[in-house]
Amino acid sequence: MRFDIVSLFPEFVAQLAAHGVVGRAGERGLLSIHGWNPRDHAEGNYRRVDDRPFGGGPGMVMLIDPLRATLRAAREADPAPAKVVYLSPQGQRLTQAKVRELAALPRLVLLCGRYEGVDERLLQAEVDEEISIGDYVLSGGELAAAVLVDAVARLQDGALNDAESAVQDSFEGDGLLDCPHYTRPVEHELGSVPEVLLSGNHAGIARWRRQQALGRTWLRRPDLLDEAALSRADRGLLEG
Ligand code: ADE
Repeated sequence: MRFDIVSLFPEFVAQLAAHGVVGRAGERGLLSIHGWNPRDHAEGNYRRVDDRPFGGGPGMVMLIDPLRATLRAAREADPAPAKVVYLSPQGQRLTQAKVRELAALPRLVLLCGRYEGVDERLLQAEVDEEISIGDYVLSGGELAAAVLVDAVARLQDGALNDAESAVQDSFEGDGLLDCPHYTRPVEHELGSVPEVLLSGNHAGIARWRRQQALGRTWLRRPDLLDEAALSRADRGLLEG
């Protein structure tokens, strides 16, 4: 999968590609990340990329033409069809279902805004989808793009090692939060590992994990239970 990130801070993109699961997926040839700086496509001595908003008010708005030229250059860099996503707090909230949908695409172009925003006409003409990573305001789209790339990258076939398997993650499969995890030592001054996990009883362990996942979801994110795929046994555990 190919990611093209349009941003005034392309160094940020390089960082993203250098570490962890995303970095390793890059090394394995599962994805590539390319940065595009609108300043490189801006005209004039000052290579201006923003201007004051019509109607007054604080801050600056990103100009149409440098962004349009940047998006065109990014599109033309590869023949695969690209979906253009603008990261902004006005977008649809990112969910694991949306991440899965995006992970199946060959290419994403991520447009990161700065300052007060981007000229609306550019968004109308060039952007396929507007996505928010949550109901809070960041000072630019770069961190949001990083979040999206990470979430999408780890779903590429072969990106995760077995031990990191995405299947048991929160929100994957059944839509519940993940169960708690423990490792050595069994006894510690902060507490003991639940006995069932040491029992070797696989059915018992599976039941305990399910119960924990259900309980946590009920306590912390009851809104998820409405959408979760629950069996009759699950409902029994919740109601009992
Ligand atoms: N840019 C600024 N805030 C954002 C948010 N919450 N999600 C996505 N992009 C943003």
